[in-house]
Formats: sequence, C-alpha cells, structure tokens
Amino acid sequence: MDKNFRRTVIAGNWKMNMTPTAAAAFIKELAPMVADADCDVVLCVPAIDIPAAVAAAEGTNIHIGAENVHFAESGAYTGEISADMLVDAGVEYVIIGHSERRQYFAETDETVNARTKAALAKNLKAIVCVGETLTQREQGITAETVSLQTKIALLGVSAEDMKNVIIAYEPVWAIGTGKTATSDQADEVCGIIRDVIAGLYGECVAKATTIQYGGSMNAKNAEELLSKVNVDGGLIGGASLKTADFTVIVKNG
Ligand code: PGA
Repeated sequence: MDKNFRRTVIAGNWKMNMTPTAAAAFIKELAPMVADADCDVVLCVPAIDIPAAVAAAEGTNIHIGAENVHFAESGAYTGEISADMLVDAGVEYVIIGHSERRQYFAETDETVNARTKAALAKNLKAIVCVGETLTQREQGITAETVSLQTKIALLGVSAEDMKNVIIAYEPVWAIGTGKTATSDQADEVCGIIRDVIAGLYGECVAKATTIQYGGSMNAKNAEELLSKVNVDGGLIGGASLKTADFTVIVKNG
C-alpha cells in the first residue's frame, strides 16, 4: 500500500490548556514556522478558544479543530456544542472518542459512532480515536479491541463519507505517559485498522484513509514513527503546546 494515496495530517490536541489570548499568540508564532509544511497542519483547541484561534489562523495553512462535538443537532443539552455551531465558527476538524473522553466522561463506542455521524453530516473532518489499554495489550487483545472500536465508530458511515474520516490510533498506555509505542507497534496496529477499513469499504477506501498515531509523539521520535508505511500523521498532545516541538513534528510529516 502506498502512502502517496493519502494525506499526512499532523494535528495538535491542546486538551484543557491555553486561554483564548494564549491561543492567538501561539498561532501567530507558529504560523511562519510551519508555512512550508508538506502535510495538513491542524490544531484542535478548547471550544472557548475557537474564535480566537480561527481569527489568528486566517490566511495561514493552519486548520482549526475542536476537541468534541455533540451528536444532537440542537436542543436541551446544557453545556454541549453542536456540529452546526462548530462549522459556523470556522472549525474544519473535530476529535471524537478521545480516550480521556471515554475514561472520564463516559464516552462509549456507541456515542462515538453517533458523534462521528453528526460531524460528517455537517462536512466536518472527524478524527476518530481508538486504542487499547495496557491491560488489553497485556491480554493480547489489542487487535480485537481496536477492530471493534473502529467498526462500531463507523457503523452507518458511507464509503463516500470516509473521505472525511481520519482514524487516530492512540494506545491509552502511551498517552501523556512519555511511553511511546515503538514504530513497529504503531505501524502494526495502524495496519490492522487499515485492514478493518478494507473489509468494510474495500481496498481503495482503505488506501486513501489517513490513519494517525498518537501517544507521546514528540520532536525526537516523530521522524521514526512517521516513516512507517501505515502511519499517516500524528495526534499530538503535550508536544503541540510548544511551537518549536510541534514544528519539528510537522517538518517530518
Ligand atoms: P500526548 O497526547 O501526545 O500528550 O501523549 C496525545 C493525545 O492524547 O492525543
């Protein structure tokens, strides 16, 4: 399978970091540093930072994403944000099913599927996160776990809509821990996910789907991870909060 069939996407996930003021200053500093990137550059930011981030990124090659989206169109869901609201604010990407959402906010494979369909219905690019826990890896059920998560997340998603789906393979044990999957482990599981997509949609869609690795990717290990044939980019937490480190990762994308 040839990497040239798909876009490399380097996406930051700021999580609950950066005020709107800090977000604008960060993007102004980053923009000239990544202006010549060969890959798609995305920053997924806290909802309240979105207007400032979109304004700061205007006229640059930096795309703004959100960190979550609700599955309903509108209604009585206090505190939630709909796909229409994100689109209207200038958001292009949205992270769905991050393991922190699954762990701390009762996100399930079913709600991940509902959110994915809500995002795709409004033409947002969905970065759908899957990944095994340390226990699941030790039990030897990594392939089964990520396959099931991927299949449920994509229930009811058409082959046509897959052009707006990015899968992020994020082993839970590697997130924010400084423990990175080896490049071979990342490549193997991203390959398993690609096989699942081939089974659901055929080889053409599988070849064209961007599958990222995430989990302690940083300026030092990015080159090795991104050199792997099945790793088409990264979802980056900690290292996306420093312009210099994020730039090094983008340059390797
Ligand atoms: P990390 O986070 O790079 O800090 O491990 C990645 C993520 O949670 O997306």
